Order: sequence, then structure tokens, then C-alpha cells
Amino acid sequence: MYTGDSAFRPNVDLDAALAEAEAQFVAANPDSHKRYDRARRSIAGGVSRSALHYGPFPLVFDHGDGQFIWDVDGHEYLDAMGDYTAGIFGHNHPRVRQAILDAFDNGIALNGPHRFEAPFAEVLCERIPSFEKMRFCSSGTEANLFALSLARVATGRDAFMAFDGSYHGGVFNFAKTDMPFNFPANWVMAPFNDIDATRALVEAHASDLAAILVEPMIGAGGCIPAETAFLQALREMATAHDIVLIFDEVMTSRLGPQGMQGRVGVIPDMTSVSKFLGGGMTFGAFGGRADLMDRFDPESEDALPLAGTFSNNVLTMEAGRVALSDIYTAAAANDLNARGDRLRERFNECAEAHDVAVRFIGIGSMMNPHFTRQAVRSPRQNALTDPRKRALLHLDLIAAGVFTARSGMFVLSLPMTDADLDRLVETVDDCLASRRSLFAD
Ligand SMILES: Cc1ncc(COP(=O)(O)O)c(C=O)c1O
Repeated sequence: MYTGDSAFRPNVDLDAALAEAEAQFVAANPDSHKRYDRARRSIAGGVSRSALHYGPFPLVFDHGDGQFIWDVDGHEYLDAMGDYTAGIFGHNHPRVRQAILDAFDNGIALNGPHRFEAPFAEVLCERIPSFEKMRFCSSGTEANLFALSLARVATGRDAFMAFDGSYHGGVFNFAKTDMPFNFPANWVMAPFNDIDATRALVEAHASDLAAILVEPMIGAGGCIPAETAFLQALREMATAHDIVLIFDEVMTSRLGPQGMQGRVGVIPDMTSVSKFLGGGMTFGAFGGRADLMDRFDPESEDALPLAGTFSNNVLTMEAGRVALSDIYTAAAANDLNARGDRLRERFNECAEAHDVAVRFIGIGSMMNPHFTRQAVRSPRQNALTDPRKRALLHLDLIAAGVFTARSGMFVLSLPMTDADLDRLVETVDDCLASRRSLFAD
């Protein structure tokens, strides 16, 4: 939290308010500024993950502990970003730490299958209903790439359906229609939550479609839940046309003991996961129907070779197993998501009390403010938001010692106490009150 001047100062217009908030940010963060400028000389754009960049410059962090993080200028923040869902255990969780140390002391890079590997796979197969068999990899992007490639081989078709506004990894980014850096495939783009339009596209491309790839809740694109009827319709369409239905549960697997598929009772053919399931370590995995996954069995005829140097890395295997079986138990998942649902309601009560055009959308422990009074069903509605409003809310929260993503995404972590959640509500309430005139429509 910045000291001295009042953190929030209402301004007459958005440009003036933002300019003032940015000036305050620059003045409060000289060391971050210096380090960011230095990083730009060696790291393209100064950041290793473009999603972590924002103006005037991203804060550079020094360390974290529990639910808190500290930047290099010495400010403490309540970490409400949770590393875009990967940070569910908070920082330095003692049980995860011990698992990593034990595995490390046992030796890493062991040259073959090792004793930490199958136990973690078993826990994942128990928790993710569609995982009859699975394979590890190192990221969510890889998991999606491998799942799509397997669908292509299994079906003998080469088109993939994805949904406008979704994000499936560095080369599977559908935030905008024209994304030249995307993996060059035959994409059929469909509108999210629109059953009729999607059905028409599926029927038109049925003989070419290998897979339908969908986030059961659009995550980075604004925490926009897929309607259950939409997921059920995708299931029916995929079955009717022998298309492989892939749920990208990289973010949403935290939304219930069995991910979103368990929550809505729609089971895809394959699922990709990443983020928190590795206990906070580098992680990715994908899996699904045994008849599909068995194509990777080296003992089968025409086996598909699938390698990855760090796919079975010892530290992830043990950290992930301990984190999922001992910490993020079914009861913990239910509890965290119930607390998140209540927090979202309280945020919306604040927005209503101040009569601002802000609605918090999401499920459980993930939520995102949208600058509208309308119901949000489609990521296309993001284009209607003035990005200056997101920037202003972000900078106001930072000034008050709460760190979120620039998109406004709030993500809960297990160490957060009820007092932390009360503080989040009070801070959001203060922000909305002080910016009431700017967020009115
Ligand atoms: C839904 C979804 N899929 C895939 C990915 C890519 O995962 P990774 O960053 O581990 O490659 C992300 C990352 O944010 C994601 O949110």
C-alpha cells in the first residue's frame, strides 16, 4: 500500500484519473521501473509471459509468503491473482516445500520411469473423470498440442473447432480474430455459448473436424462460464459425428473436486490440465479415453512416439501428488469454491450499492469484473469494455495493496483467511465508491 497521499482520488474524466494513477504508480515504484528497463535489454519486451505486462511497467517481485507477495520497492500485496490459477497453494506451502525437498534429495533426472510418477498419475486419474489413461508433459500449451495431434491421428481429419475469445496456450490464443502467431491449423471458429450457430458449423464441417476444443469456463478471457446446456450440446454433436471432444481444464480443474466436468456432469473424450495440479511446479498433462491414449503405448503396433525431456520431472511428480492428495482434497476444493462464490456475490453487492456498471462474473475461486450492467455470456462482450477502466481499477487495487491481473481476474488461494476476503471486499468497495462517476456507464 502506498503511504502519504490518499490512494484513491476521484477524477472528472477517465484520462485524467488514469494519468494520475499512473503517475502515482511510477513515483512509488522506482526499483521496479529500473529493473524492468534492465530486463528489456535482454528479454524481449522485458517479460517472459506477455500476459504479465501492463502499463506503465509491470511490478517486479522480490518474494512471497503464504497469501502475500512483496515487490522490489518493498510494498506488500495480498496476492489476489494467484498466478492466473497456478498459485492455489500460496507461497512456500510447508507440505509442498517438504515434498520438493524430499524428492530433490532423492536425486533428479533419474533417466527412466521413477517411483514418484505412477502414484501421481493414479491420483489424477481418480480426480479427473475423463482420465482413463493420461500422459504428462510440461505445460498446458503442450497438453493441448498433444491432445489435438492425437485427435487428428485418431480421426484421420485435420480441422479443429475452437471458440472466439478462448485461450489454450501461447500458440492457441483466440482473444482476437486475427492472431498471426497461432499454430497454423485448419481452425473452425465458433461463438461461445451459442448452440445453434455452433451446431450449424459442426454440421457444415463434420467430415473435416478432428476435435472440438473448449474451456468449460473461459478463463483468461473473463471467467465466463459455459452454460451446461452448451457443454451438453457439444457432447451430443461430438458423439454424433465422431469428433473428439476436448475440455481444456487448465484453469477450471480447480473449480470442483473433479474439475468442471465433474461439476456439470459432462464428460469429454479428452482433457488437458496444467497450472496448480503440479503443486506449483512446471506441469502439464492430458488424457482421456483409453482407446485414444493407448495409441502412445510403445508395445502396440504403429505406436505414436511421444517424448518430452521434463515430462516426468521428479519435483513436479511428487509436489503434485502431495498437493492434490493431501492439500487440495475434495473437501478443500468444495470449501474454497464456496468461499469464492460468496466473495463474488459480495463484490456484486458493492457494485449495486454504488450503482456502477460493473459485474463480477465467474465460478467459485475465479472471477473477473466486467464493465457492464448486462449479463455476460460471451467473450465477444469484452470488446465493449474500455481498457482504461480495467487499468484504473488495477492501479487503484495495487495502490491499496491488493494485486490482481490487469484484466481484473481475481483468483483465491488456500492460505487466504476470511479477514483477507473481507479486506478484498472493503478494497473493491472503496475503489468503486471513489470511481463511481467514471464507472457509471
Ligand atoms: C485455459 C488455458 N489453457 C491453456 C493454457 C496454457 O497453459 P501453459 O501456460 O501452461 O502453457 C492456459 C494458460 O493460461 C489456459 O488458461
